[in-house]
Amino acid sequence: MTAKPRLVISSGAGISAESGISTFRDAGGLWEQYPVMDVASADGFARNPALVHRFYNERRADLGKARPNRAHEILHELEEDFDVYVITQNVDDLHERAGSTKVLHLHGELMKVRAVDNPSLLFPVGYDTCTTPDTVIEGHKVRPHIVFFQEAVPMFEPATEIAGSADIFVIVGTSLAVYPAAGLLHYVRAGVPVYYIDPRPSPVPAGVTVIPLPATEGMAELARILLKDRR
Ligand code: APR
Repeated sequence: MTAKPRLVISSGAGISAESGISTFRDAGGLWEQYPVMDVASADGFARNPALVHRFYNERRADLGKARPNRAHEILHELEEDFDVYVITQNVDDLHERAGSTKVLHLHGELMKVRAVDNPSLLFPVGYDTCTTPDTVIEGHKVRPHIVFFQEAVPMFEPATEIAGSADIFVIVGTSLAVYPAAGLLHYVRAGVPVYYIDPRPSPVPAGVTVIPLPATEGMAELARILLKDRR
């Protein structure tokens, strides 16, 4: 039994767009509707924590109404032929709900909150959970388990090791506007094929195979390419 090739996916908000979850920088996106530095930055949280709690309560409620789409499902189906690792900038749980087993969240998770006095103390929450700055769980005041702008990205180092182990690397649905996440591509070994699925792709280095399609169609096309010689 030969080991399955390692397929590493780097996903952004675009993979969840067809599930009805708003992206950030598309027309009408979240950062057009909300002042990002008020609702998603460390300074904003210090200034008005109630507003930040409310913003993520709304995102969580939206997520409860959403379902994984074909792109998430195809990714799970590819686990039959590949050792699939998902590195996502998304805080939604759609990869997990589609059945993906190895998912690393670079920017945190909506479905968890964490103790303000102990960042490693996480508590699962439901889609209808509404926290405030006064919410206490097991004696700890809590905050969204989200990496705000101006905060460190503790999962980036493990993510670079996973990217460095890829036999195939796929970027799906990200504008590549936010670092360090956007820099993952540079940790991929030379000679490893890289694909980028996005209907309005951002500039990428030569040698990357761009599939300018929405994630559901782009992932179907990618599966056809990857499975051509394997089944
Ligand atoms: N299928 C695939 N990609 C899509 C689709 C779709 N149906 N619709 C839009 N896109 C693409 C857009 O073309 C864009 O390139 O998804 C990307 C969305 O970009 P952003 O809104 O910037 O989202 P993302 O790259 O994930 O943002 C990164 O920024 O605000 C922070 O923490 C937040 O994780 C987020 C990070």
